[in-house]
Amino acid sequence: MRKITASIASILLKTYMRLYKSDFRLVQMRSYHLKEAAQLLARQFCADEPLCQALGITEEEIKDFFFEQVKFSSAKGLGVVVEHNSGRVVGVMTIEDHKDQMPVDATKLSPKVAPIGQILDRVKLPTALEPETCGEVYYVGIGAVDSAYRSQNILRTMIIGSYTQMVSKGYKMGYAKISSPAVLRSIQRIEKMLPFPFFKQGELKQADEIPELVSSTPGQLKNFKLALIHWGYGAYQGQPLEVIA
Ligand SMILES: CC(C)(COP(=O)(O)OP(=O)(O)OC[C@H]1O[C@@H](n2cnc3c(N)ncnc32)[C@H](O)[C@@H]1OP(=O)(O)O)[C@@H](O)C(=O)NCCC(=O)NCCS
Repeated sequence: MRKITASIASILLKTYMRLYKSDFRLVQMRSYHLKEAAQLLARQFCADEPLCQALGITEEEIKDFFFEQVKFSSAKGLGVVVEHNSGRVVGVMTIEDHKDQMPVDATKLSPKVAPIGQILDRVKLPTALEPETCGEVYYVGIGAVDSAYRSQNILRTMIIGSYTQMVSKGYKMGYAKISSPAVLRSIQRIEKMLPFPFFKQGELKQADEIPELVSSTPGQLKNFKLALIHWGYGAYQGQPLEVIA
């Protein structure tokens, strides 16, 4: 019964996504996407992402770091982009195996970018979900949508489509560390379409519980929150949500 209901949810999602997504397609991130993908991430994060805003990071300061991230993700055959019919990359999401994440040498980063790793480490995957080996749990490190194409379900398409792809590779769950209210909103919208819980919140830290953030950013942190969200369990563990052609 649970499986049947889950399939109905899949069909509904498929219809919903197709309806809105005819001008776009979700594809695996390839080497020819990397430059454009890194530029898009740098531009969108510096304009809008709460952590980059709090740290006052510029595109110039973060673009090389993002290039390394997309390169690592795509070299492992992971990560997705959304291409517009024009061929332009309008959405990017990096994916890493939880047990095989990109090593980062903070001493080689610009001083404003360097604390990001420690800040993100303040929320951790619950111990109970810690996998023993590669191939079980994936981490969505960074994701962004071109500001000209926002609120057209592109993020939702990347979250659901990449989950389906990862399940087909044998993964059971995914997670992300989220600083953006728009991502939380997007997740709520997906959750409402499903008959069973799909997302779950792990640790949540407010700005004043993150010492690296407090020391590097005086003021303007009142509403900052960092939440670990994981997904794909219960009725959905290891089960695809087929939504993307
Ligand atoms: C976050 C981001 C990827 C969302 O992309 P998107 O394609 O517009 O996402 P979706 O269309 O799936 O949905 C976004 C939802 O958030 C809402 N939203 C946008 N800004 C918001 C805000 N500041 N607070 C709350 N909700 C917000 C939108 O209205 C939309 O909801 P709706 O469909 O009910 O109207 C995009 O805003 C972005 O690239 N931001 C900069 C980079 C970033 O912050 N990345 C995430 C880091 S955790």
